[in-house]
Amino acid sequence: MTEADPTAHRQYDFVVVSNRLPVDSTLDDNGEQVWTQSPGGLVAALEPVMKQHDGAWVGWPGRADLDLEPFDADGMRLVPVGLSEDDVENYYEGFSNDTLWPLYHDVIAVPSFFREWWDAYKRVNRRFAERTAEVAAFGAIVWVQDYQLQLVPKLLRDARPDLTIGFFNHIPFPSYGLFSQLPWRTHIIDGLLGADVVGFQRDADSGNFTQAVRRLKGFATKGQHIAIPAVDGLPSRTVIARKFPISIDSTYYRNTAQREDVRARAREIRADLGNPKTIMLGVDRLDYTKGIRHRLLAYGELLSEGRIKPEDVVLVQVASPSRERVKSYQDLRDEVEVTVGRINGDSAAIGHQAISYHHHSYPREEMVALYLAADVMLVTALRDGMNLVAKEYVASRFDNDGVLILSEFAGAADELKRAVLVNPHDIDGLKDAMIAAIDMSPHERAQRMRSLRRRVFEDDVEKWSSGFLNALDVHSLASEQ
Ligand code: G6P
Repeated sequence: MTEADPTAHRQYDFVVVSNRLPVDSTLDDNGEQVWTQSPGGLVAALEPVMKQHDGAWVGWPGRADLDLEPFDADGMRLVPVGLSEDDVENYYEGFSNDTLWPLYHDVIAVPSFFREWWDAYKRVNRRFAERTAEVAAFGAIVWVQDYQLQLVPKLLRDARPDLTIGFFNHIPFPSYGLFSQLPWRTHIIDGLLGADVVGFQRDADSGNFTQAVRRLKGFATKGQHIAIPAVDGLPSRTVIARKFPISIDSTYYRNTAQREDVRARAREIRADLGNPKTIMLGVDRLDYTKGIRHRLLAYGELLSEGRIKPEDVVLVQVASPSRERVKSYQDLRDEVEVTVGRINGDSAAIGHQAISYHHHSYPREEMVALYLAADVMLVTALRDGMNLVAKEYVASRFDNDGVLILSEFAGAADELKRAVLVNPHDIDGLKDAMIAAIDMSPHERAQRMRSLRRRVFEDDVEKWSSGFLNALDVHSLASEQ
């Protein structure tokens, strides 16, 4: 970027703020910087929204100690926020992913509470808010994303009362009994209440949030409205808290799945796996919330009891690397890989692996080919805000075939009611669901898949973003009157 760059100080009417930018700076084998697509459902869902609005996206470029100027990529203006090695350790790996993540996911792993981490969280949230205030035009709409940035709405409102501010929480919001463990709980609630609209995935999440507001702040709430009283010369105002279930670009998945090269790749995958009768598929970030251990346990028991044979059924597990320096993630990886090795050692026949395990991520086209090849999709999360993999699978199955096994603890279960719903803690129930899916008649498979597809095509990501932005618009118009 040169001094003369006319866009260097441009301000935008629409700004998205998330911990990660849609692209990650990584180093290739020669130590050269390359940009790769960022992990997770958040970025995938927001990309189409950003491309529609001529906005700016504020976020971290994915590596420590990078000091970058704003740049354009793929039709989007990206505004990097640098994190030092210390910020990465304390704000990202520490407070975000070893305090909030486990606390907000039903304490599946034990959250740690360290004051140094909290200090880093405050510091980095302030930096995001400052960067955002610089690039937001007067009266702009700013949409802040996810648990890493819960203090940003209030910081922004204090600095820039002209802005309309939305916040969307992509992960669950915990019940008050769990949330109240957090030593800094009231600061988090104050931070979120800086927004005009606070969005959640499910009714249960917005209900938990409004309960925390009542208990900690004593503010009156009525349905989705929270009344914030006048304070310090600032007028009273109303905050809306309600669900906006996130989705995917369903048409993209259908169109990609219909491509001849992608269908050929799906056939090739099947052949490479030895043309088994049934391919089961799991696709997750390697995260303890995803229920990968429960899935492997159920599958391993079915094999050892002889209810399925490795010649007939193969499990493909894609586990994309995630948060690899956090201890609970390292422990999970060890456990998953030992289990995969044990199951393959016990059950695989020569030329027939029981589990085909992949510890990396794949380009989107390859994922769609895998979805097309998979007869049974396993989404067995112990707790999940939404789970977009479930929706991607359904959107890809233009042939109306394939069975989705879906945890009732994933947000997607509120909408995808014709999936085979399971409680992943109930291993016997999970085993029976796998057998039922393997044996399901083509007629029932098609019936269920048609109904699932209707839902995923009616409620796509465009509906999510326009629903949220309309609510924000209506709210800001009402406040001006
Ligand atoms: C989930 C979170 C996102 C996060 C993504 C990937 O989807 O809701 O906020 O970006 O996981 O995790 P990471 O820690 O790699 O950003």
